[in-house]
Amino acid sequence: MALSLSEIFGSKETVALDIGSSSIKLVQMSMGKQGWQIQRIGMKELPPDAIVDGSIIDSLTVINTIKEILKEENIKTKYTVSALTGHYVIIKKVTFPAATEDELAESIQWEAEQYIPFPVTEVNLDFQILGVDSEGRGQMDVMLVAVKKDVISDYTSVLTEAGLTPVVVDVDAFALENMMEINYPVVSGEMIAVVNIGASITSLTVIVDGVTTFTRSIPMGGNQFTEEIQRELGVSFHEAESIKVGAKSSDKSAEIASAIDLVSNNLIMDVKRSLDFFLAGGHDLNVNKIYVSGGGSLIEGLNELMQEKTSIPVEPIDPFKNVDLAVKGMSGDEIKKLSTFFGVGVGLGIRRSGDR
Ligand SMILES: Nc1ncnc2c1ncn2[C@@H]1O[C@H](COP(=O)(O)OP(=O)(O)OP(=O)(O)O)[C@@H](O)[C@H]1O
Ligand SMILES: [Mg+2]
Repeated sequence: MALSLSEIFGSKETVALDIGSSSIKLVQMSMGKQGWQIQRIGMKELPPDAIVDGSIIDSLTVINTIKEILKEENIKTKYTVSALTGHYVIIKKVTFPAATEDELAESIQWEAEQYIPFPVTEVNLDFQILGVDSEGRGQMDVMLVAVKKDVISDYTSVLTEAGLTPVVVDVDAFALENMMEINYPVVSGEMIAVVNIGASITSLTVIVDGVTTFTRSIPMGGNQFTEEIQRELGVSFHEAESIKVGAKSSDKSAEIASAIDLVSNNLIMDVKRSLDFFLAGGHDLNVNKIYVSGGGSLIEGLNELMQEKTSIPVEPIDPFKNVDLAVKGMSGDEIKKLSTFFGVGVGLGIRRSGDR
């Protein structure tokens, strides 16, 4: 499910850009004889004030960073696939009168109106029919996605000004679902949670039988760890960030541990609360596993603590599990080091215009 902006004619080659608040990730993938392949991959840091909580503040810096990474990776195509975070996206499971996909495509504007807190003319809409009318109620469950047009245009204008043609703007949760689909075979009756911990946003998705059934975006991520270290140690954000990722040593290990412990517990509590909220909605299944990705998940001990507090097994996602790493000038090991950061990127890399 994604918002297709235009169909690509002639060329099928696209470049995927995951524009995160701490860095831009680029990946170019193609379908080879053996399955999906990565041709190009790279990431480039953004200064902390360029994108704040998912909003582009300093568009010039973002545009220039995109241009730089395109040049570095020698990208020839202009067609780009990118994603918005759940933060600005309304994703709701709703009940509509039973209809076919084509019928609903015709009537979606009418049906969606009551579920969206602003005029439907101001949003781009997409939907996915979740279940057929098995009980003969004349109704069906639908996952409704709405994104405000002005938010989309903030993103697309940055891409356009960097010389690109945006063909698909996806939603990070659905990119993650697609990435999971090619790497982790769906087990019937299985319910999994995917938790992507970025710098400013943690997105949580519950996938049942391979279908996204619930999403929640938590306004917390790696930045909160950095800020807490900054506060405890009385250092700059930049210095706290270096200490956090282990690039700089500090003799205040007790203070650092307590800062990390505090934020870890808060974040895990929010994840747990969101899962409990979803489960309270009447699901007789249990969450079988929590898959984690995103740079924020590299915090030492975070996954173990999440497993302990939720009593659900926690496993880091490998977005390259079933992907051939055929990047010129980069070894497989070098690419694998990037795996935590490319959950969304791989999901976008395999997205083609016209896919649902
Ligand atoms: N080794 C590490 N240990 C702990 N944290 C790390 C490590 N490496 C990176 N991080 C943190 O990961 C975060 C960046 O992750 P990621 O690239 O997934 O976020 P993003 O996509 O830029 O942000 P968002 O999705 O929230 O907009 C930063 O907060 C960074 O400090
Ligand atoms: Mg991100």
